[in-house]
Amino acid sequence: MKKAVFLDRDGTIIHDVGHISDSGQVTLFTDTVPALRELQQEYELFIVTNQSGIGAGLIGKCEVDQVNCELDNYLREAGVYIKAWYVCPHTRNENCQCSKPKPYFLKQAAAEYDIDLSRSFVIGDHPHDVTTADNAGAFGLYVLTGHGAKHLPELPYDKLVFHGIHEAADWILTHPEPVSDIRREINIAAEYIQSGKLVVFPTETVYGVGADAFNAGAIAEIFAVKERPSFNPLIVHIADLDDLKQLAKEIPEQAVRLADAIWPGPLTIVLPKADTVPDIVTAGKPTVAVRMPENVSALQLIRQAGVPIAAPSANKFGFTSPTTAAHVSEQLGAETPWIVDGGACRVGVESTVVSLTGDRPVILRPGGVLREAIEEIIGPVWDADEIEQSGEAPQSPGMLANHYAPTTPLYLIDDLNDYLADNKTGFLLFQVTEGFNVNDPYVEILSENADLKEAAVNLYAAMRRLDSLNLNRIIAQRLPDEGLGKAINDRLRKAAASDSTRDYAPSEADRL
Ligand code: TXA
Ligand code: MG
Repeated sequence: MKKAVFLDRDGTIIHDVGHISDSGQVTLFTDTVPALRELQQEYELFIVTNQSGIGAGLIGKCEVDQVNCELDNYLREAGVYIKAWYVCPHTRNENCQCSKPKPYFLKQAAAEYDIDLSRSFVIGDHPHDVTTADNAGAFGLYVLTGHGAKHLPELPYDKLVFHGIHEAADWILTHPEPVSDIRREINIAAEYIQSGKLVVFPTETVYGVGADAFNAGAIAEIFAVKERPSFNPLIVHIADLDDLKQLAKEIPEQAVRLADAIWPGPLTIVLPKADTVPDIVTAGKPTVAVRMPENVSALQLIRQAGVPIAAPSANKFGFTSPTTAAHVSEQLGAETPWIVDGGACRVGVESTVVSLTGDRPVILRPGGVLREAIEEIIGPVWDADEIEQSGEAPQSPGMLANHYAPTTPLYLIDDLNDYLADNKTGFLLFQVTEGFNVNDPYVEILSENADLKEAAVNLYAAMRRLDSLNLNRIIAQRLPDEGLGKAINDRLRKAAASDSTRDYAPSEADRL
């Protein structure tokens, strides 16, 4: 038995310009021919199109046949062979058997051309194309061309969307057994998360690169892959409201109302963090950002992994956020972790970040959910600019500032030999260093084996411990300026520079 791809015509392989009566009105999408050439290596191609304009008397049946005939010739000359063209000429009122989403033509093709529908696909820009696939036991892919973007809200959330036909074709060619291929990608990703590895997964906003939110070592790896110059706090993704309890110390009523109304969806809520959330996830802040994504694969992955997944967008620092799996591998190259390829992201911009840690809710980052929608649920909110303009201090320390800095003055230096170890000076060292005792309470060794990843994991906790000793100063040793060392140095530099009244070097009296 053969496999087939059933293609919608208007909005899927050609631009949708309304009822087409003349081939002069036909324009192929630029990637139609290359996509179909690739697909036909493994699939028989069919066109299935509803042309209700015929039944409505707006165009003639012969005109439509003529347009299709010329398009077929054009494609043939371009090396693309369409096995058969199926046209439903009826309006919806005629209640025919052949209009999509009825599977009539797919079943006809199956019978005439010996097609196995269970290994076949439908590509279309209308939700009824995907439903047709369901009704025929095939797999439907939705494209955002044509009317795709307009009808997207009607498309069930478990359906895959693509920016255009070429993306859809590529997905088909890499997922010949779509249902089990998706399951397999998620199964492997869940195992990777459990074993402390990174995975890339789709959300409705952008693709994320994630790890077990409770595994600090795995989280450090995220920063390395992203080449982030500093440790921004990450968003922790959950699949069930119950998961919030293990992440947040307090869950204010407003959070419950927002979560009930908007989750799963592109809203991130910042709450006081539970002690069990590693510092590296929150960049040393006492708060944690949490969201429940709407993407079905993301939710499935989180549930299967059995842990919340901390994830930033899966791009290199400073580059555009990825909204397809291919974007991710183009940017991350050979370092790309295991990818769950869930097609294109439906929202395409990052989530709205709202903080509920102060007197009044604050939108820290505008995103997928509008301010108005939030205000409808919990009343007036501020945005970060308004807070700044009002001259009010941020409602919780470090809430708007991105970086944790100790209250004890911190100095970042290259050569430790000049500095005296006394009981008023703490040392933040990268590795075991001659002249410093590992067991000395004033000495913190970030990694005894000089491992940058381990150093990253320990950084914030070590800084906090030294900060709690009521010292006069903390001397931090600059790390090798490579890999994660860059991120750590940048973080240390910010911590050293955070108090402008502070000298940048200890006075002579502090020196040997
Ligand atoms: O849509 C999204 O939110 C995507 C997908 C993958 O979920 N994620 C994303 O992550 O955009 P990222 O790391 O690129 O951005 C996280 C944002 C930053 O603006 C960060 O400052 C803020 O969330 N954020 C995270 N934790 C915070 C905290 N504890 N307090 C304040 N802001 C926080
Ligand atoms: Mg269409």
